[in-house]
Amino acid sequence: MITHFAQLQLNTVSLQGVKQFYHDQLRFPIIHESDNEIHFQPTDSFSLSFKEVAEPLAPAHLAFEIPDSEFENVVSWLQKERISLLKWSDGRIIDNFETGRNVYFRDGDGNLLEIISHHYIQEGILPPSGALNILYLREIGFPVENVIEFREMLVKILNFKLDKVSDIFAFAIGGTAHCVIPSKKRKWIPISMSALPPTMEVGFGVTDIHFINEVKARLDEQNISYEWNGGLYFKINEYSFCLSITNFPKEAHHLLNLPFSR
Ligand SMILES: [Fe+2]
Repeated sequence: MITHFAQLQLNTVSLQGVKQFYHDQLRFPIIHESDNEIHFQPTDSFSLSFKEVAEPLAPAHLAFEIPDSEFENVVSWLQKERISLLKWSDGRIIDNFETGRNVYFRDGDGNLLEIISHHYIQEGILPPSGALNILYLREIGFPVENVIEFREMLVKILNFKLDKVSDIFAFAIGGTAHCVIPSKKRKWIPISMSALPPTMEVGFGVTDIHFINEVKARLDEQNISYEWNGGLYFKINEYSFCLSITNFPKEAHHLLNLPFSR
């Protein structure tokens, strides 16, 4: 099964800008740096990397889950660090929804970042990491033309579960990983930002080789080509994926008390 988002690679137009934001401001540790790439390690089980390109960018959306007990501290910390938190149309910056709360901000490339906490999450299961107390990367956004087709493909190939399903939106969930699938016509909250598909490679952590073999068989059925290179690489629509075996605790989503953990 898929346990979590293990890595995300995005394009940037400035490695220096990315370094100033993610390392100097958000304090993400750097694990690798070269002329055209930089890799950060926000948690032990997730790496975020950027590749410098000379081409226009479409901003990505990602959300980090933090403990609910740390939410206020983290928001104060972001404000103290002069990170500009985005406002809803009524001027508020914190959204209190039924099961949790969140805030949004952007990096220098316009990527829409979110810090989110949920009341139901059991604390003490995963260690909070860094200044933001990140437990894990919860969400990556995948704007698509056809939401129904894309989410059904993720269900078929990766065994995902669906939530908040409509014609123009869905969450596709594997372990702690939530793929947010909006129609390109549905704008991102809270600043009504156009949902364009970013160029990215999304790495999922999986429990074992049996799951990878099952995915290979399903990719064959769908006539989707793949490559094995220490992980299983393939594309669905415009998005690149990689599955690799990690030692992320496979029962984490159960212990965290996530609603879609069964
Ligand atoms: Fe989100």
